[in-house]
Amino acid sequence: MSEQPLLSVTDLRVEYPGVGFRAAPFVAVDGVSFEVQPGETVGLVGESGSGKSTVGRAILGLAPAASGKIVFGGHDITHRTAKIQKSVSRYLQVIFQDPYSSLNPARTVGRTMTEPLEIQGGLTKDSAISTVSELLNSVGLPEDASDRYPPSFSGGQRQRIAIARSLSIQPQLIICDEAVSALDLVTRAQVLNLLDDLQQEHAFGYLFIAHDLPIVTHVSQRTLVLYRGRIMEQGPAAEVHTNPLHPYSQMLLAAVPVANPTVQRQRRNERRATSISTGQAKSAPLDGCPFAPRCPKAMDPCWTSRPAAVRVEQRIVECHLYSPSVNNQKGETP
Ligand SMILES: Nc1ncnc2c1ncn2[C@@H]1O[C@H](COP(=O)(O)OP(=O)(O)OP(=O)(O)O)[C@@H](O)[C@H]1O
Ligand SMILES: [Mg+2]
Repeated sequence: MSEQPLLSVTDLRVEYPGVGFRAAPFVAVDGVSFEVQPGETVGLVGESGSGKSTVGRAILGLAPAASGKIVFGGHDITHRTAKIQKSVSRYLQVIFQDPYSSLNPARTVGRTMTEPLEIQGGLTKDSAISTVSELLNSVGLPEDASDRYPPSFSGGQRQRIAIARSLSIQPQLIICDEAVSALDLVTRAQVLNLLDDLQQEHAFGYLFIAHDLPIVTHVSQRTLVLYRGRIMEQGPAAEVHTNPLHPYSQMLLAAVPVANPTVQRQRRNERRATSISTGQAKSAPLDGCPFAPRCPKAMDPCWTSRPAAVRVEQRIVECHLYSPSVNNQKGETP
């Protein structure tokens, strides 16, 4: 691809301090690699605790990388100084699930939004006020929104305020961390359409984090499936959804409710087979595949060696079912 990626993450590892005296650090993200192109939406999906937000936090500079590399707009921002952080922060924005926590309830929306424009954007007060008014209008908020305080808005409206705020200093990449998960279906659809329209207009990239596979598929061009801090599968969003290759991606798909009772029953049975509560209490092997204890297709090598990332057409899969060495030994293909 000739275009330089907007974001390139290579072999990222993020650790949190272990709990207790001399406890080993907890590895929340382990060997994660992916790219986001300008104007592209990349979805990051996985169960709760799989490390999705930690990937986002590392990109934002809120969680230090233990190793690996993060390159944004051609600049290595892995170990950023306060100066680098200041210069990239306006191009890297985030929208959280609960924007309320990031909006000061004692400040009008207008005041919260004009401040970064004046400080980071160097605008005069008057032009900051008119820019904010245009932004609020572009996300469909009422005219008086900038004079009101956050508690006087609904959840969906507050999410729009968060979007307007993240757009205000013309970012290049927006990390949407469960940005629509708490919204009702109608508001969710409106906000997703809004994000899409804004992307068409401004061509920025999104890293769209959610635990819901259909939503991620709906908004993304590419999907990354994360499990215990490792990318199990990545590839074109529609392919990952319709024909998931990794048994963990297949499990995520089986968890999606469907209207057809026969298919639903079949999926329920598949879910039972991969549920940790079915007595497969073995812990994940240190050197093997983290999904092995839950995997209905686990083989001996899954317990002893970490599957390498293998390219299968347009996808990259970390699973021994697709490892050439394992399949050569078995004398068969998956
Ligand atoms: N500050 C922290 N200190 C220690 N452990 C943490 C910290 N933040 C997250 N973790 C752990 O790291 C793992 C990944 O957490 P993370 O928040 O990235 O998951 P997630 O995929 O975003 O989950 P969710 O879908 O629930 O938001 C979890 O096991 C979590 O307990
Ligand atoms: Mg999270």
